[in-house]
Amino acid sequence: MKIHLLIGLAAFALWSCSQPKETSSSMPPLPADPHSFAQPDRVKVKHTHLDLKVDFQTRTIQGTARLDITAAENGDTLVLDTRNLNIQKVRTGNPAKELAFSLDSAQPFLGQALRIPVPKGASSQVFIDYSTTEGADALQWLEPEQTAGKKHPFLFTQGQAILSRTWFPCQDGPGIRFTWSADVQVPAGLKAVMSSENRTADTAAGKFHFEMPHPVPAYLVALSVGNLAFQPIDARTGVFAEPEMLSKSVYEFADLGKMVEAAESLYGTYRWGRYNVLVLPPSFPFGGMENPCVTFATPTILAGDRSLVSLIAHELAHSWSGNLVTNSNWNDFWLNEGFTVYFERRIMEKLEGKEYADMLAVIGYQDLTLTLEDLKNEPQSTCLKLNLAGKDPDDGMNDIAYEKGYRLLCLIEKQVGREKWDAFLKGYFDAHAFQSMTTEDFLSYLEAQLLKPAGISLETSGIKDWIYKPGLPAGAEVPVSARFEAVEKALTAFSSGTLPQKETTTKWSSHEWLHFLRGLPDGLSSAQMKILDESFHFTQTGNNELLFEWLMWSVKVGYAPADAALENFLIHTGRRKFVLPLYKELVKTEAGKQRAARIFELGKANYHSVTRGSVAALFASK
Ligand code: BES
Ligand code: ZN
Repeated sequence: MKIHLLIGLAAFALWSCSQPKETSSSMPPLPADPHSFAQPDRVKVKHTHLDLKVDFQTRTIQGTARLDITAAENGDTLVLDTRNLNIQKVRTGNPAKELAFSLDSAQPFLGQALRIPVPKGASSQVFIDYSTTEGADALQWLEPEQTAGKKHPFLFTQGQAILSRTWFPCQDGPGIRFTWSADVQVPAGLKAVMSSENRTADTAAGKFHFEMPHPVPAYLVALSVGNLAFQPIDARTGVFAEPEMLSKSVYEFADLGKMVEAAESLYGTYRWGRYNVLVLPPSFPFGGMENPCVTFATPTILAGDRSLVSLIAHELAHSWSGNLVTNSNWNDFWLNEGFTVYFERRIMEKLEGKEYADMLAVIGYQDLTLTLEDLKNEPQSTCLKLNLAGKDPDDGMNDIAYEKGYRLLCLIEKQVGREKWDAFLKGYFDAHAFQSMTTEDFLSYLEAQLLKPAGISLETSGIKDWIYKPGLPAGAEVPVSARFEAVEKALTAFSSGTLPQKETTTKWSSHEWLHFLRGLPDGLSSAQMKILDESFHFTQTGNNELLFEWLMWSVKVGYAPADAALENFLIHTGRRKFVLPLYKELVKTEAGKQRAARIFELGKANYHSVTRGSVAALFASK
């Protein structure tokens, strides 16, 4: 442990506030979070105010974090999570006194506990002057060339799972919530957007003020800075994007307002004020991130035909499952994602009908089957309840939480009927709003509120097998889609040499095409791909989900006409879900490995640390 500063105990007396004391009994202990050093049951951050200056020249954020804290009777040390932060000074407010602090030694991916002595049993304020460093893995700084407009730099943050600690000192566990506000200074002319309502802005001076009045976990604090324009869709929804991307984005998300209404009609009032979507440059590592008030989204969902908007339904659904009721720690990740996939498909069912939602369910089930196959040598990773202690949660979280979680919730719905299930879910979000949830708390709530009244025993229902046992329980239902029947017929015909008929395919949505591409036969030849390409122009498709499937086949089969498209896609797209499987497929052969290494050299500057790290690990393990 390194002590940076020592001060006399007398200073304490000066800065302990006289606000009412909170005793430890009013702060029930949280279950331990294996990915946070914080001890919120002793000293808890109630509110964080960030004063930030974003400097594109040095690629750093210079910040002051003012933390409003409450210490229990036995709490004499505020413990914060930090990683690669440069902590310059820790002080009290008025009168300003420098405070002693220490930083524990750094642990892989967890970073360093920052320890600050505080007065026991009191509320007080701590100011931390700090700057980010090159090791701020949450941040991606983009050069103008990496943006759509090519004239202005761009910055965005990605906090989930445990990256927020790399850009501000915080109690970085999903089970720990605080309200926050921020004053952000950016270069004049650029705009700052944060995951809250924007209260005031002086764009000419580059000053922005944000306030989040609801307590949220640190992973949901996000910032983006760039040449951003805004266009409302209706009174409470709208789109942020670079001006060059704005009209395309607004067209794609025209139904945003209807989506929020559909969600509210299912599970209760949207509680976050506005719902906006921010379309980021293509290096954004995820499809979407559910930052409150402003979903951050990849531009790869701008297909031009609104066919990929279920991703927005997903991020919107997180406004209930995840942001309102939050997984207590990352071992309970399925409570965030499984519920959100379920909710997303219910929104899409409301907007587009059951047949549409059934297609999503079948595609999701295919993903689940592939993931189960991938993980067959590590069955523990296929339980819904995870044990991620000692692991980087970003490596341990996979499709299982999403699609196995979804299947479990469909099963419960089937057991009790949709009406009771919907009433239960609405009550669940209400009763636990702005709180965190463990799998075990969920199970006891489920048992008391839904199963027992319906005469179902939790123990014999099989639900615990889904949660605590690997794989899918025997007899698990397999979803089906009526609209995919035509696709399957076309696939059978294709295997015996007949191309799908244009009269059939003109009616196909991108989901049908996805099913078609996924269903192409093993042993597909380059000649067959050429015929398909000539008829349906997959190499040129503007739908990135389809392009991805097509490029996967191209790598498997060695279909040279798609080479340029593959390289272009890999160099410019940072979405890990697409990038990683393509690299995995490439490195299966010696020639592919060399090609992959060459492409990675060209593309890595465009990847966020999350994607870059995953791809680099692939090279390291080969
Ligand atoms: N919250 C996730 C993204 C995430 C998960 C970030 C884990 C970091 C760690 C987000 O809601 C999500 O699931 N995005 C998906 C899209 C969704 C439709 C399945 C994605 O990015 O592909
Ligand atoms: Zn999600």
